[in-house]
Amino acid sequence: MNYFDLKNGVLHAEDVALPDIAAAVGTPVYIYSRATLERHAQVFRAGLSALDNPHLAFAVKSNPNLAVLKVLARQGYGADVVSGGEMDRALAAGMAPEHIVFSGVGKTAEEIVRALNAGIGQFNIESEEEGRELATLANALNYQANAVLRINPDVDAGTHGKISTGKADNKFGVGIHRAPEIYGRLNALPGLNMRGVAVHIGSQLTSLEPLETAFTKVGILIAELRDHGHKITHVDLGGGLGVRYRDGDNPPEPAEYGAMVARVTKDWGVRLMFEPGRVIAGNAGVLLTRVIRVKPGSGNAPFAIVDAAMNDLARPALYDAWHDFDAVEPNGRKMTTNIVGPVCETGDTFAMGREIDVVEANDLGVFRTAGAYGATMASTYNSRGLVPEVLVDGDKFAVVAERISPETILAAEHVPDWLK
Ligand code: LLP
Repeated sequence: MNYFDLKNGVLHAEDVALPDIAAAVGTPVYIYSRATLERHAQVFRAGLSALDNPHLAFAVKSNPNLAVLKVLARQGYGADVVSGGEMDRALAAGMAPEHIVFSGVGKTAEEIVRALNAGIGQFNIESEEEGRELATLANALNYQANAVLRINPDVDAGTHGKISTGKADNKFGVGIHRAPEIYGRLNALPGLNMRGVAVHIGSQLTSLEPLETAFTKVGILIAELRDHGHKITHVDLGGGLGVRYRDGDNPPEPAEYGAMVARVTKDWGVRLMFEPGRVIAGNAGVLLTRVIRVKPGSGNAPFAIVDAAMNDLARPALYDAWHDFDAVEPNGRKMTTNIVGPVCETGDTFAMGREIDVVEANDLGVFRTAGAYGATMASTYNSRGLVPEVLVDGDKFAVVAERISPETILAAEHVPDWLK
């Protein structure tokens, strides 16, 4: 459910007609709907209503835009961050430091110290080595860092290989069988307040089964850790819930997810934590683009060349991901076409042989479900600018991230004197 709908034949974000945004800001541009973000935040929370005071930490990596984070902060969300840069954003958006969870396999000493000084609520430790470093740094500064140990349950999440994180050969967490001994050693270190475990097996999960398998393993581990005398008070179940990208996708509803979690965790006696990203932001954004021209293809399907490219929305090139494409002013007719961007790579292809609304040069269209892992993964490849972002709220909109022009990027480069 989202608030991008046709009104009088023109696609709107809430009450704003998308051509108005194109006229004011240009294309390509990401457009987010505040009402959709809020709705998703509320639906996810409601799905977990059987749980006692779960901690909700929005996965900043999915959409780190400051205004988006502000909307979610106002919904009572904290943040899951994986870098000092993401931490700064969450804090700038007004999220309380104690509501921020610091994840990631490669936290640097500098980032750890900054997070300690900022009073970050919890570190999700991904290895014994990281735990020892955190303990040393915290102890030297007289902190007791709240920490949980991320375990790798060796479960196949059944999603794209590049966004699976819970198989034994993925880089994330410590093997679940080694977890008790590692936990014991970390627990003995001054500077650390070990209080539980974390798990996250992958993203865009369309079945609850692998999640349930992983959580069940975590339940067994908790019992084992308690048998060893450890106090387990917090368990972070990560993110991963999939969204609908195309007809036929049937991801579990947050309520089904919540019911499964409630059932599996009912005897755990811990505070559960969650790190949803895509399920909150995915359908709350579209990428608005303009058709540059349509050229004939060698077969039946012409190429619709749009002004958005793989540098603006990398998911199709990286994961063969599907994003629905709709004309902003559809005329009811359809055509079969290949949708491509201007970048000089065959990978710069959004769709092949896709039946879409008829579009021609200068028409506007949107790629849907682009609110998560869209703008945040943009690059300047082919010396293109960085795509701007707009937030819509009812009948008003604002540019919440400016377009960074190729000139600005060029201005940050320098030719050394000895080359002049
Ligand atoms: N927590 C951790 C530790 C994570 O690694 C991730 C995502 C999340 C939470 C949020 O997962 P979500 O609820 O959004 O599924 N760029 C890829 C997705 C990468 C996900 C990385 N980790 C894509 O465009 O599909």
